[in-house]
Amino acid sequence: RAGLGTYRIGQKVLAHDSVISTQPLAHEAASKGAPEGTLVITEQQTGGRGRLGRPWHSPKGSGIWMSLIIRPEIPLSKTPQMTLLTAVVLAKTIWEETGVGPKIKWPNDIFIGDKKVSGVLTELNAESDRVNYLVIGIGINANMTSEDIPPELSAIATSLRIESGKPLKRIPFIQRFCENFEAEYDHYLREGFERVKMEWEQHSYTIGRWITVSTIQQTLEGKAIGLDEEGVLILEDTTGKRHKVYSADVNYRAN
Ligand code: BTN
Repeated sequence: RAGLGTYRIGQKVLAHDSVISTQPLAHEAASKGAPEGTLVITEQQTGGRGRLGRPWHSPKGSGIWMSLIIRPEIPLSKTPQMTLLTAVVLAKTIWEETGVGPKIKWPNDIFIGDKKVSGVLTELNAESDRVNYLVIGIGINANMTSEDIPPELSAIATSLRIESGKPLKRIPFIQRFCENFEAEYDHYLREGFERVKMEWEQHSYTIGRWITVSTIQQTLEGKAIGLDEEGVLILEDTTGKRHKVYSADVNYRAN
């Protein structure tokens, strides 16, 4: 494969063997001025973190554990769109590189069938309404075999290798991810969120399903009908009333 076809995403790579988590390393690099597109990547994390304070199992060699630094000039309110954009890019890249068709579970889990294969954790550094940078953490279960998946996760997690039936070549995958990210991101910066929204809906696991959403204030139940132009999930309850769902944990119920 020819080299990396981007001009900034993935042009600088900070590669590690074993770290606690790539997220704080990316924050440190970003605060010291690392350019947009810098990728912090590791073979193993001993304290990988997921959304909602959960741990993220990141064993040696079998995954893609990386954090991408970006510096978009967008208001704070639009930063969730970057997470949706990342999920779209992951779904596309998985499809292109493995031939397996993934789905995006709102807001940013990548599913194959009914199991999770990848997740995104976006962290923000901002001053008042100005975004300094975003660290987009991406975890992909690449080459785990079914024996590598801990028993307590085997009902909910899978890997690209298990699903495609062949080992994943991680370097070409990461290159393709960077190229796809740059194309999608540049389009987003020029033209706005519309295309991401459309592609997210096309790849969605969530749209059309009955879901239960629990926030601190309330529990909502209804059908997920789409994203609004900001990237907020729209839920329609049994009375036809529409609700906006921000970043709560979403629980699914069978259709
Ligand atoms: C989730 O689905 O909960 C998000 C998982 C994000 C995991 C990645 S792996 C690379 C980066 N470093 C971390 O500690 N977490 C993210």
